[in-house]
Amino acid sequence: MSETTMPPKIFVTRSIPETGLDLLHERLDVAVYETDRQISKPELIDRVQGMDGLLCLLSDPIDAEVIAAGSQLRCISTYAVGYNNIDLDAATSRGIAITNTPGVLTEATADIAFALMISAARRIVESDAWLRRGNFEGWAPKLFLGHDLTGKTLGIIGAGRIGQALARKAAAAFNMRVLYHNRSRDNTFEAEQNAVYTDLDTLLRDADVVSLHVPLSQETHHMIDARAFETMRPHAILINTARGPVVDERAMIDALRTNRIFAAGLDVYEEEPAVPDELIALPNAILLPHIGSASIETRNKMAEMAARNLIDVLEGREPPHRVI
Ligand code: NAP
Ligand code: GLV
Ligand code: GLV
Repeated sequence: MSETTMPPKIFVTRSIPETGLDLLHERLDVAVYETDRQISKPELIDRVQGMDGLLCLLSDPIDAEVIAAGSQLRCISTYAVGYNNIDLDAATSRGIAITNTPGVLTEATADIAFALMISAARRIVESDAWLRRGNFEGWAPKLFLGHDLTGKTLGIIGAGRIGQALARKAAAAFNMRVLYHNRSRDNTFEAEQNAVYTDLDTLLRDADVVSLHVPLSQETHHMIDARAFETMRPHAILINTARGPVVDERAMIDALRTNRIFAAGLDVYEEEPAVPDELIALPNAILLPHIGSASIETRNKMAEMAARNLIDVLEGREPPHRVI
């Protein structure tokens, strides 16, 4: 092989499933971060130098500094659908393609939102922990009373792929009425799910369960703030599988502590992976470690898609899923 036909060089910030790594190894010169932990920013800056492509995680800060260090980069392929960790302006100004993994994780993530919704409504995690502490002394009329979901109203904020999948599951399982709020209306969704479009305040005022599915952006940062919690119903449940900073976490802790709302089911946090002690102490919060897409089947498909995206861009083809 001559110098000019050497395969493009890529860096993978953490080992991903073999379905993706095998594809990468067939076509590219692959280096994978050797330890199974979050790479630090200085290490990232060091390792991205001289690379044609980067395969990163949603927890890697791909800011202007990292992008500048990767002066040879032609593609950044993120192993996620959300790409709020990547500085798109810095990438655009250097002509770097950004790709992501939409669609393949839709059902898995909606399933986690659905699980959080039932678990919060029926206090499943809290009562399991209570039994394990040796407290169960027999059936009791008022033991761990929660709320029914059947016939209740689900408010979806950000009814895109995942939000609509949750709406479909909730309508089928619990005959829930669906309200939604996006920047624009979706006539097909309205026709297929009997979904009703509302402004944000109406949704917050009328929903029994509010579930967040917007991407994190300047517009959606702290979309759910102290005022939003004042607007919600006292028995309302908040589900967040989107991104932590969409919710003002301090305001949420206050609302949960004072029973201003009934419960929260969370997969994401404002300063991930940090979770405030005050939140950990609250019995009416369910706290998952960002496992929305964490099924074996889904992670395999994401790995394959992230690999194909990177290979296609580096070999001069249009990739399956390009953000910019
Ligand atoms: P999507 O199909 O793009 O849906 C996003 C929805 O949000 C769209 O319907 C969009 O509609 C709406 N939206 C965007 N900006 C808005 C705004 N300012 N105000 C109101 N609505 C707004 O994305 P998806 O595939 O469903 O994924 C959604 C997000 O879920 C991802 O960005 C990611 O952060 C998160 N996620 C988390 C996990 C996890 O593990 N917990 C897994 C996968 C994804 P309009 O454009 O009409 O506003
Ligand atoms: C997970 O949070 C994703 O954005 O894919
Ligand atoms: C509960 O177990 C019942 O039989 O009602």
